[in-house]
Amino acid sequence: MSELSVFATPEALADAALALVAARAQQCVQTSGRFTLALSGGSTPRLLYQRLAQHPELPWHAMQLFFGDERAVPPGHRDSNARMVEEALTHCSFVPRENVHRILAELSAHEAAAAYERTLRLYFDGPLPRFDLVLNGLGPDGHTASLFPHSSALDESERWVVAHWVEAQRSDRITLTFPVLNNAAETLFLVAGKEKAWALAEVLQGSASVADIPARGVRPTNGTLRFFADASAAGQLR
Ligand code: 6PG
Repeated sequence: MSELSVFATPEALADAALALVAARAQQCVQTSGRFTLALSGGSTPRLLYQRLAQHPELPWHAMQLFFGDERAVPPGHRDSNARMVEEALTHCSFVPRENVHRILAELSAHEAAAAYERTLRLYFDGPLPRFDLVLNGLGPDGHTASLFPHSSALDESERWVVAHWVEAQRSDRITLTFPVLNNAAETLFLVAGKEKAWALAEVLQGSASVADIPARGVRPTNGTLRFFADASAAGQLR
């Protein structure tokens, strides 16, 4: 069961996402002493991250920031998700450096995936990580994180993180796998722009396979699933 909220503009969407992330961070830190957040990459979440950078009063000391995926490029590369997050948020002095767990994509993709899984195992006990909140984006082709249509990562059922060649991107990607994404306590998709309208309609109202529309594979086993969309991205919803 998923919940959809539609906002007039990407800015209004980011405002609502800020309110949700801030509330969840304070709640989790109060009840469990920490808040584990998996950040999505690309460009949509930048507005949210820039808003979070305006809130030093949040319990950043107890907030552990992870990434849902990364491109196989060094952190200074223009395509790096870590760079986008650094420019928008983690450059802030109130965000402890040791709380930012980027994927070391300057390594080989497979080494980066293995290193990231080792990092996750330092922070999460049990058979799977259970993030307090996972932020996901949606690609025009229906991908999320770096789980692209008909890519090998879609079938991974054991590993928490995989590196794989993504033909459509002509590059390697490193990504959390469905078992991890679907073990989250809360999942929030941030979807903006009319180029996402077809994919969002397919995710929410279609019947395509996960191979065709990987974001349909995000079905938390014991967690909430929300979509925040702007009016443009919601344009093809019935
Ligand atoms: C990435 C992402 C990816 C992204 C979608 C949407 O590394 O690119 O994690 O899944 O969320 O491609 O990207 P935009 O927000 O840029 O449209």
